Amino acid sequence: MTNNNIYFVANWKMNGHLSLIKRLKNVVILSNNKKYKKIKIIYCPPFTLISKLFDKIKKSKIIVGSQDCSYEDNYGPFTGDVSPKLIKEIGAKYVILGHSERRLKGDTNKIINRKIHAALKQKLKIILCIGETLNDRKKNKTFSVLKKQLLLCLKKINNIDNIIFAYEPIWSIGTGVIPLNNILEHDISKIIKFIKSKFKNQKPKIIYGGSVNPENIVKLKHIKNINGFLVGGASLYENKFVDIIKKTTI
Ligand code: 13P
Repeated sequence: MTNNNIYFVANWKMNGHLSLIKRLKNVVILSNNKKYKKIKIIYCPPFTLISKLFDKIKKSKIIVGSQDCSYEDNYGPFTGDVSPKLIKEIGAKYVILGHSERRLKGDTNKIINRKIHAALKQKLKIILCIGETLNDRKKNKTFSVLKKQLLLCLKKINNIDNIIFAYEPIWSIGTGVIPLNNILEHDISKIIKFIKSKFKNQKPKIIYGGSVNPENIVKLKHIKNINGFLVGGASLYENKFVDIIKKTTI
């Protein structure tokens, strides 16, 4: 882990209900504990739960994000879309973009790039997901895929201060399979090196996502250069999420 801020992003995907929000007492307590002042907790529930979540976490340091946004940044006749402006107005600070589950629904690197520009225009921060399939990995194409995603998604972006990169190998999402530490460390170093070569004098923040849970975090936390974790399934259970955070920081 780095010595900088450590990010724990809860991606609820298309899950969650009011009763889950009511059960966030321990995360709220943890977020306010000075011992964890380097920890940034970001909850990304479905759009429909964002305002309810705010009601619950008002007195905490928990940050709220959305799981996607439109590439139309403002208001307009775009039925079904949610713009970065609307997300910003409700008080959310982050948006996850480029998640493999959204790419499967049609988001290309080009569309993701448009969304990034729109979100940055409205001063949202971005969690940009990249990742390869198992097939890409088997064919030794991991880096060409990741580089292409980075280059196209970041077209005409000059500053990465407001972007957190989330490396999520697609074969690890929801499967319980995680990369070996030495492989993950090597891959993350390569991603950082590549981003640094494109954004001179800037320091990329990179988090890992894919089957993170209270058991494997004990291993994953030893990966150098990592700034935190993007957690799917386990983030739906408050006790597991709190456990992940606590185990990372002891
Ligand atoms: P899981 O933690 O459920 O594998 O999901 C990872 C993920 O996709 C987070 O964005």
